[in-house]
Amino acid sequence: MKKLYIIIMIFFFAILLLLNACKKETPPVFILPAPPGTKVTLGKQIFLDVNLSTPVGQSCSSCHASSVSFSDPSHNMVSPGAATGLAGNRNAPMASYTMYFPPFHYSVEDTTYEGGLFWDGRVNTLEQQAMKPFVNPLEMNNPNLSTVVAKVHSASYYPLYKKIYGEITDTTKAITNIMDAIATFERSPELNPFTSKFDYYLAGKVSLTAQELQGMNLFNDTLKAKCANCHLTTPDPASGKVLFTDFTYNSDGVPANPYNPFYTLPVQFNALGANYADLGLGGILNDPTLTGNFRVSSLRNIAVTAPYFHNGVFGTLEEVVHFYNTRDVPGSGFAPPEVADNIDTEETGNQHLTAAEEAAIVAFLKTLTDGYQVGK
Ligand code: HEC
Ligand code: HEC
Repeated sequence: MKKLYIIIMIFFFAILLLLNACKKETPPVFILPAPPGTKVTLGKQIFLDVNLSTPVGQSCSSCHASSVSFSDPSHNMVSPGAATGLAGNRNAPMASYTMYFPPFHYSVEDTTYEGGLFWDGRVNTLEQQAMKPFVNPLEMNNPNLSTVVAKVHSASYYPLYKKIYGEITDTTKAITNIMDAIATFERSPELNPFTSKFDYYLAGKVSLTAQELQGMNLFNDTLKAKCANCHLTTPDPASGKVLFTDFTYNSDGVPANPYNPFYTLPVQFNALGANYADLGLGGILNDPTLTGNFRVSSLRNIAVTAPYFHNGVFGTLEEVVHFYNTRDVPGSGFAPPEVADNIDTEETGNQHLTAAEEAAIVAFLKTLTDGYQVGK
């Protein structure tokens, strides 16, 4: 009798499971689940933990969500911080594919600065980077990293932390471990899937449409759109991956974004008020010949990470491509640059592209979105 009861129960649950599976929506395309019980899972849980801000409510994923290649899911020009009314000065870039950025360095071979994380390259590793938002008053706003350690100590995933790193006894060591877990998650396949239509095209599994091919050819054309001069379509020698950046710095003459809330922040955050201008690399190195220079962005998943450029001034790829094409054409109507010095006019600003050619480049950029389903 007991056996029959168990069999009936199993049958009942199987039907329930089946019904549930039918009801389920198609899973989000970016998710490659982290293996349970591993450092990757721990890093992911920390990354998703909204208790790690002051006040609570903001996690790394508030500004770097998996659905949009780990950029801001609300597509803010600049993301609001945990503290009400505050916001940073720059657009939240995707955290995906950042594991491939080399540390900041001067390349003697290329006679230029290369690498680093953030728009201005000011930190070198994902571990160092992960410490910054926790204690940035305009982001997660904790008074110090010990607060974060205490929160991890009482988190639901602390048993997993303990399994991997042992009991927390030393705050400094715990900080290193937390950053190690986050960086390990950031180096996992979930943030580095290489599953775009373009990747499958390179692997010979799909073909591009005529318009996408035209866009790709223009993108690569060193005399025409010139995009690949900086957004490389050849494999990065270190990783063998096509990353759409040469990690160098350039000033694209991006217009100031008058809607950036940073301009109106209290003086302790922005002493210059409306006169604030983001100097980029020049500000970090205190070098006036480099003001307005920002790191060349990877364009992977670019169609899902709007708005664009360091200050989020453009909402669409159409605007970005039109800007590259006509910035220096009299009457193009773009607002003045945020930083007027050092603007590159050799490779950007007047590409002589027709409207159809601009559209083809946009079509090509849309092939860089991960989660492409071969055969659909
Ligand atoms: C309030 C929004 C916000 C939160 C919260 C936030 N970030 Fe960011 N993140 C940004 C912005 C904005 C930048 C670019 C800042 C800059 O360049 O100065 C950035 C940059 C990064 C980068 C470098 C990307 C690149 O292209 O160089 C990584 C990696 C990153 N964040 C990971 C994290 C992690 C890990 C956390 C949690 C510990 C986190 N972020 C929390 C907004 C946020
Ligand atoms: C001379 C180097 C260079 C060339 C050529 C170039 N770019 Fe860029 N690109 C950059 C730099 C540097 C940035 C970041 C600039 C900033 O935010 O101020 C950038 C940013 C972008 C962004 C925004 C990225 C983001 O995450 O917001 C897009 C889109 C883009 N470029 C597309 C293109 C296309 C399309 C072309 C060709 C028409 C092109 N670029 C040509 C250097 C270049």
